[in-house]
Amino acid sequence: MTRDAADEQHDAVTCTGLTYTFGETKAVAGLDLSVGEGEVFGLLGPNGAGKTTAIRCITTLLPVPAGMVHVFGHDTAGDRMAVRRLLGYVPQQLSADAGLTGRENVALFARVFDVPRRERAARVEQALTAVDLTEAAGRLASTYSGGMVRRLELAQALVSAPRLLILDEPTIGLDPIARTGVWEHINAVRAATGMTVLVTTHYMDEADQYCDRVGLMHGGRIRALGTPIQLREGLGERRRAEGGPADAPLPTLEDVFREVAGSGLDDQSGGFRDVRSTRRTANRVG
Ligand SMILES: Nc1ncnc2c1ncn2[C@@H]1O[C@H](COP(=O)(O)OP(=O)(O)O)[C@@H](O)[C@H]1O
Ligand SMILES: [Mg+2]
Repeated sequence: MTRDAADEQHDAVTCTGLTYTFGETKAVAGLDLSVGEGEVFGLLGPNGAGKTTAIRCITTLLPVPAGMVHVFGHDTAGDRMAVRRLLGYVPQQLSADAGLTGRENVALFARVFDVPRRERAARVEQALTAVDLTEAAGRLASTYSGGMVRRLELAQALVSAPRLLILDEPTIGLDPIARTGVWEHINAVRAATGMTVLVTTHYMDEADQYCDRVGLMHGGRIRALGTPIQLREGLGERRRAEGGPADAPLPTLEDVFREVAGSGLDDQSGGFRDVRSTRRTANRVG
């Protein structure tokens, strides 16, 4: 088995020329991406940028028709089960069952993800504790608030102790306090385990605050890549070089995005302020 050797010498995620087409729509158009082990990497972009499609390819839920995707050195095409064992996934759409209690939801994932039977009960409690849901764990998920449902979904993904946690719009539709709560729990688990986090979001402020590195995605490709501060300072320098005022405030990540995506952003379905795809988590569970 080459698994250990493969795990050691590779990035958490490598995409090379990843392309995915729905009929006429090129959802992902030659995506190149590397996520280092232990990083919190943010894939940012407006609705329709191709984030979810790229994520689905990385999780092996979609086949990779063109290009290559590796997770800790394992090819998603040839080594699907090895990849699945290494990752936890919180999809954009609801993944908790409203008719089960919080604890039952997490236990279900523990079984599906093959957590050894003897460890299951302890691991379920650990995951619930990690997201601060121990007290509410006996209640039906249908009684949870939007933020609690999102934390439950996080516990479901964490119960298999993944080395790579993938979250698709984890805070969409949540109020600012619930958003902070979700991020604090992600960060605490990451600090405790060294797990790698790949997250998509269209909240630029969150990415700026919580991501080590971001890739700005537009039209199926990464248009800018770096740490949030690198990207912001880079734009500041370009503006000064073009004759902008020397004392202008540091541009935001949203400014950077507007620059790299250009006017094309406005042609998209609303850009990243669009909230039509908001999950409305609480409503849908109820
Ligand atoms: N199942 C699908 N069938 C047809 N087109 C799709 C499907 N899923 C996504 N698309 C299209 O692919 C593009 C990228 O979508 P998606 O990956 O969901 O972007 P994002 O997650 O960044 O909003 C969009 O133009 C979208 O309309
Ligand atoms: Mg999406």
